[in-house]
Amino acid sequence: MIDALGSVGSLLLVGGTSDIAVATARRYLAERPLRVVVAARDTPRRAAVAEELAAAGARVEVVDFDADDPGSPAKMVAQAAAGGDIDVAVVAFGQLGDPELLRSDADAVGRLAHVNYVAPAVVGTELAGRMRAQGHGVIVALSSVAGERPRASNFVYGSSKAGLDAFYSGLADSLVGSGVSVLVVRPGFVRSKMTEGLADAPLATTPEAVADAIVNGVRKGRHTVWVPGVMRWVMSGLRHTPRAIFRRLPI
Ligand SMILES: NC(=O)c1ccc[n+]([C@@H]2O[C@H](COP(=O)([O-])OP(=O)(O)OC[C@H]3O[C@@H](n4cnc5c(N)ncnc54)[C@H](OP(=O)(O)O)[C@@H]3O)[C@@H](O)[C@H]2O)c1
Repeated sequence: MIDALGSVGSLLLVGGTSDIAVATARRYLAERPLRVVVAARDTPRRAAVAEELAAAGARVEVVDFDADDPGSPAKMVAQAAAGGDIDVAVVAFGQLGDPELLRSDADAVGRLAHVNYVAPAVVGTELAGRMRAQGHGVIVALSSVAGERPRASNFVYGSSKAGLDAFYSGLADSLVGSGVSVLVVRPGFVRSKMTEGLADAPLATTPEAVADAIVNGVRKGRHTVWVPGVMRWVMSGLRHTPRAIFRRLPI
């Protein structure tokens, strides 16, 4: 249970090998030791993350999670909850995809939509049910500014994030009064594994900055955060930019 000072005792990382998820765990571990459940595909990176977080003072549990497997979310949440209550769950898995391929390959579009929208919605439903039963908890969902107004250069990813964002925003409203809350996080370009090799976009940020925003947002009971914060105003402007102009922007 999150205590009166906002200290978190247990953290579930869904997509536990994500740079943002790992930075969030590090940020919490800098405050106090806690239980961290790393839910991810079985890869060498997962083992390395588990080892790193244990060395930083976490009581680590590793659970299998594969967003491509429809049965995985229910199993993963049940296993994570078997070890005790989940105070904060960070839903951080996702794929950027190859925009060129996604322009013409319908199967690739379907797979990306599944990993970035269908699976997060199923995971959110499982987490909400579990947290309602325990009577408390915070679900943190990694959305993106890309979902606020999808642009031609990566509209498949952007549209999947728009769906995720709408799902978790609606879930948040449906949970009012249950003791469970949802924080939707909308980062801009983050220098992580996902964007490795890509040129920085304007206002590029780091996994550590996103982790700070998550920890502060959870502590303050916020429902939405942008990273960096100024993105909120940038996106507000872009959202209302006339379409004919928006299409011509080099973004
Ligand atoms: N980086 C950015 O610029 C940015 C901006 C806004 C929002 N976001 C969002 O933030 C979240 C975290 O991204 P990140 O920047 O931390 O990137 P990341 O380090 O690449 O993390 C993404 C994680 O998703 C996991 N994943 C992908 N497909 C999966 C599947 N089928 N089943 C289970 N796990 C799967 C990967 O796990 P494996 O180790 O198994 O591959 C990977 O660790 C994502 O949802 C992303 O869309 C990122």
